[in-house]
Amino acid sequence: MADREVDRPTDPKFVNLVSAFLAMESTDSLIALARVSGEGSVTERVQRFIWTHCMNRAGGKFHAPYLKNFLKKLISQVEMNHGDVLDDLYERYAYYMSSLKDDDSVKGNSKIYKYISFLFPDGCFELSSCPESGKLLIPLQCSLNMLEGDTGCSIWPSSLYLSECILSFPELFSNKSCFEVGSGVGLVGICLAHVKASQVILSDGDMSTLANMKLNLELNHLGSEGDFAETDDANKVKCVYLPWESATERELENFKPDIILGADVIYDPECLPHLVQVLGTLLNQMKPYSQSDAEVSDGFDAFLGKTMSNGAAYGGMRKGPVALLASVIRNIDTFNKFLALVDQANLSITDVTETLKPINLLPYMRSYDRTTIRLFILTFK
Ligand SMILES: C[S@@+](CC[C@H](N)C(=O)[O-])C[C@H]1O[C@@H](n2cnc3c(N)ncnc32)[C@H](O)[C@@H]1O
Repeated sequence: MADREVDRPTDPKFVNLVSAFLAMESTDSLIALARVSGEGSVTERVQRFIWTHCMNRAGGKFHAPYLKNFLKKLISQVEMNHGDVLDDLYERYAYYMSSLKDDDSVKGNSKIYKYISFLFPDGCFELSSCPESGKLLIPLQCSLNMLEGDTGCSIWPSSLYLSECILSFPELFSNKSCFEVGSGVGLVGICLAHVKASQVILSDGDMSTLANMKLNLELNHLGSEGDFAETDDANKVKCVYLPWESATERELENFKPDIILGADVIYDPECLPHLVQVLGTLLNQMKPYSQSDAEVSDGFDAFLGKTMSNGAAYGGMRKGPVALLASVIRNIDTFNKFLALVDQANLSITDVTETLKPINLLPYMRSYDRTTIRLFILTFK
C-alpha cells in the first residue's frame, strides 16, 4: 500500500491515534480516534495503519489484555459497519483469544508500560529539542493499581500538567536546580532533564515508588545514582528517599534548589503539616551568592513578573527559590487546611492557573482533563 501515513504518520489525526494507543488511553477513546482518522469509519487504510504502527510496534512490554480488548472492539466496530476486517487483525485477535485467559487482565500490582507523547504544534518545534518529529516520547513503567507505592506508581494528571508547563516554558527551568517532592513515576524529572535543568533531584517517601522511578530514569537514559552527591554527570537525575515526616532541616539544607516542584501532593490531611514544613524549609534558604545564580533567579522572576498580571501578589522581584505546585482540588477542606498551614509557615501562595498556561501538548489524551488542575507558586514571605 503506497501510503506515507503507513510509513511515517504525519497527519495529526493519525499521530493522535498512535499516541493515544501508546499512552494506553481507553479502548473507547482509541475507537473514536480511529473513526476520526477514517473520516467517520474504521476504513481499510486506518486498519492498516493500526496494524503497522500500533499492533506491530507494541513489543512484548505492552499489556496483552489491553491489545486483545482493543482488537475486539475494533473488529466489532468494523463488522457493525459491514466493512472488511484485515486478516492480520483477525489473526492477532485469534492468537490472543487462544493464549490469554479472561483473568489475565488481573489488576493486582501488575506493571505495564505507557509511552507518553508530547506533541509540539507547528511553530513550537524548537521547544521540543526534536525538531524533526516535533514529538517527545517518554516511556514509563506504571502499575495497574493506582494505590501501589502509596499512589506513586501511577501517572497523576497534575504531573502531566506540570510536564506540559516545563516543556512550554523551558527557559524557566533550564540552568536551574530543581527538586521535586512526591515524584511518583518520575515524569516531571524526565521533562526537567529534557529542558536542561542544571540539576534534577526527585524524591519520594515510598521505597517501591522510588525503585520504580529509578527504573523509569534508566528507561529514559537518565539512570540515577543512589546518592546525589556521588556524581556530577549532567545526564543523571538523582533520586532521594524523603518521607516528609522525617525530613530534617539538616537533610534539606543539602539541596538548596532554585525551584521546588510538586504534582498532586496535596491530598492527605495527615501529611500536610509535614509537606508544608518541607516546602517552608526549602523555600527559606538562600544559596551562597554567585553572579550566575543571581542571573538565573532574575530570569525566572522577570518571566513571572511579565507573565502574571498580578506580579505584586507573587511577591515582586526576589532572589529566593520558588515552588510550583500543580494540584487537582478533590476535597476543599483538605485544600483549605493546606492554605492555612502555608500561611502559618510564612509562605505566600498565588494561583497562576490563568496566567501561566502551558501549551496543550497532549491533545489526544481524553483521560486527562486539564481544566481540573490548578497551578500555584509559593515563596517565602
Ligand atoms: C498522588 S501521587 C502523585 C505522584 C506524582 N507526583 C504524579 O503526579 O504523578 C503522591 C506521591 O506523593 C508521595 N507521598 C505521599 N505521602 C508522602 C510523604 N508523607 N512523604 C513523601 N512522599 C509522599 C507518594 O509516594 C506518591 O508518589
